[in-house]
Amino acid sequence: MSTAPSAGARTFFVTTALPYANGAFHIGHIMEYIQADIWVRYQRSRGHTVHFVGADDAHGAPIMIAAEKAGKTPQDFVAEVAAGRKPYLDGFQIEFDHWHSTDTPENVELSQSIYLALKSQGLINTRTIEQFFDPVKGMFLPDRYIKGQCPKCGAKDQYGDSCEVCGAVYSPTELVEPYSVLSGARPELRSSEHFFFCLSDARCVAFLRDWTRGSGGHGGRRLQPEVLAKAQEWLGEDEGKLADWDISRDAPYFGIEIPDAPGKYFYVWLDAPIGYLASLKAYCARSGMDFDALVASPDVEQVHFIGKDIIYFHVLFWPAMLHFAGRKTPDRVNVHGFITVSGEKMSKSRGTGISPLRYLEVGMNPDWLRYYIAAKLNGRVEDVDFNPDDFLARVNSDLVGKLVNIASRCAGFLTKRFDGALCAPEPQALAGFAASWAGADAVGKMYEDLDYGRAVREVMLYADAVNQYVDARKPWEIARDPARAAELQSVCSTALNGFRDLVLLLAPIIPATAARALAQMNAQDVGWARIGDAFPEGHRIQPFAHLMGRVEAKMIDRLLGIDEAPETAPAAAGDKRRASAAGASEQAKGGAPSEISIDDFSRIDLRVARIVAAAPVEGSKKLLQLTLDLGAEGTRNVFSGISTAYRPEDLVGRLTVAVANLAPRKMKFGTSEAMVLCAGDDAGLYLLGADEGAEPGMRVS
Ligand code: MSP
Ligand code: ZN
Repeated sequence: MSTAPSAGARTFFVTTALPYANGAFHIGHIMEYIQADIWVRYQRSRGHTVHFVGADDAHGAPIMIAAEKAGKTPQDFVAEVAAGRKPYLDGFQIEFDHWHSTDTPENVELSQSIYLALKSQGLINTRTIEQFFDPVKGMFLPDRYIKGQCPKCGAKDQYGDSCEVCGAVYSPTELVEPYSVLSGARPELRSSEHFFFCLSDARCVAFLRDWTRGSGGHGGRRLQPEVLAKAQEWLGEDEGKLADWDISRDAPYFGIEIPDAPGKYFYVWLDAPIGYLASLKAYCARSGMDFDALVASPDVEQVHFIGKDIIYFHVLFWPAMLHFAGRKTPDRVNVHGFITVSGEKMSKSRGTGISPLRYLEVGMNPDWLRYYIAAKLNGRVEDVDFNPDDFLARVNSDLVGKLVNIASRCAGFLTKRFDGALCAPEPQALAGFAASWAGADAVGKMYEDLDYGRAVREVMLYADAVNQYVDARKPWEIARDPARAAELQSVCSTALNGFRDLVLLLAPIIPATAARALAQMNAQDVGWARIGDAFPEGHRIQPFAHLMGRVEAKMIDRLLGIDEAPETAPAAAGDKRRASAAGASEQAKGGAPSEISIDDFSRIDLRVARIVAAAPVEGSKKLLQLTLDLGAEGTRNVFSGISTAYRPEDLVGRLTVAVANLAPRKMKFGTSEAMVLCAGDDAGLYLLGADEGAEPGMRVS
């Protein structure tokens, strides 16, 4: 059953897309890392060598602007984001060998040398283009920083590229009354010289036609069929469909300077993928490997994991850049779909999606999420939905009910009655197990092809067979008869051999659980090649400790923020849970919070609000549902825990103070979009008011 091809040992250089360094990881990032990490662990379990690296994508206008808003240098800003990566990666057992940044000497050196190589190939030219310039900020404006009236329907405040009201698509210069989002100033058209990578060059087109079809790879296909189809569509049938790519930006810009072009910087997407190489280079330096030899070697398979939104960059720009700079191109680009939560697209502004850190904070097992995502993934570019009920059912039924259950029912008898010693397994039973599923080679191929969902289903068929065997032989009944000791040992040993196989098969997906289980079985010699090898007679296991608990509904409620936490200042239970800094937890206990700056305070958008409707909430003793009028800010739906203190009809018409920029919070009854301020303690709750004359929407400071 097992194959151990040490002769065919492979070497991989694996990356995931480099996340923008302007915020913490969200569940979409974690999903990508889990997909890649499972693949890496699988390859390692086959004895292959994998260099798995990541990095922050540090450059670009949005990060420069965000840093300025935060009053920081871009370098400090991205360093702070980078410092927050570790708890996520460790928490979800993502085993990158190295994490780097694109704002590093390695990346400057590599980007400039790749650019110069392209230039020497005659693939860089310059052209003067006209663009909007913000005269107050003194900078050219990317499209998303220009707004104005839609030229088609006249809607106000539309972005520079398309209208959200009528759907029209246009260029920023067509906007009526355009203004800069950064300064409010009217942008001026100015011309400037830009550098272009000549993707329309016949050499590039010919190369990409060939490359995308996958010739020259490692036997396997380079791109998934639907990705290849997209690439073919972009490349078109006739020449001239690909446009040259604008790779320069004018100062001020946070990026890498273009050699011999003062005031010109590489557009972030030029140096971002080169960051893959920069990270590998730094890793090589750290671990004594020869970077140049490694990236150039035809025997090293270069594999990129990315999401469906950045295909264009990875199957056109990136391979063309590498090829015409005289470098090796990727062997495989694995594209995944997006993760949705209960069928909804994640959106930071609406507060949907699930927070990976909160998942860990509420004590949920990372292997649960890894397993659930694996069970839903296949090798195609399809979205994956995180459905809370399905998550609970799937994890509890497969991991707890099938996998762990085998050990729970058998290991104890071995340690208590036989001093942990196994006897030889029953050959007939093992044959029955083997017949129940597709086998290790087939499942290995499913891992290789990223068809994790199918791999999981096959492994669960094996688990079903072992459980049926245990059900049929009933060790708990055999155990009552001292005369049947040998039979008891035999049944438990047989089942435990199956369990060990199942753990090895699932180890890439549930590494922490697998490591614990294998340690308890004293299975030192692990890896894919051991699947199907029976434990030798007399092998001893240790007493089994608890391997994995069940997912409980209340954990999921806490993860999603679905609870009855009253949305009032003194008793915001949700915030209490999130509070980790000493000052914050002090406050939760009723003590004085630690000192903050005026800037910290000004981040809270307090507004005068009029309560225009108030109603009891069915099924809740604490909550009232309020509709707040915030003047120009619109109306907000709020669930507030004040029903013990106020009758709804007494609230309608009153002025109060609301926190207007609190992240929306999903509750059992709906989404709460703001918070009203109350004073109070155990003795009572008192809504804050504003004197008559204050208008809804007025800022409170
Ligand atoms: N910085 C660029 C990538 C440069 S690669 C040289 C970027 N960053 S990103 O932070 O926006 O996205 C990083 C990765 O996360 C991308 O592969 C993207 O597709 C993926 N995802 C972003 N949202 C996602 C989901 N909702 N679901 C799954 N993956 C998602 O793009
Ligand atoms: Zn319009």
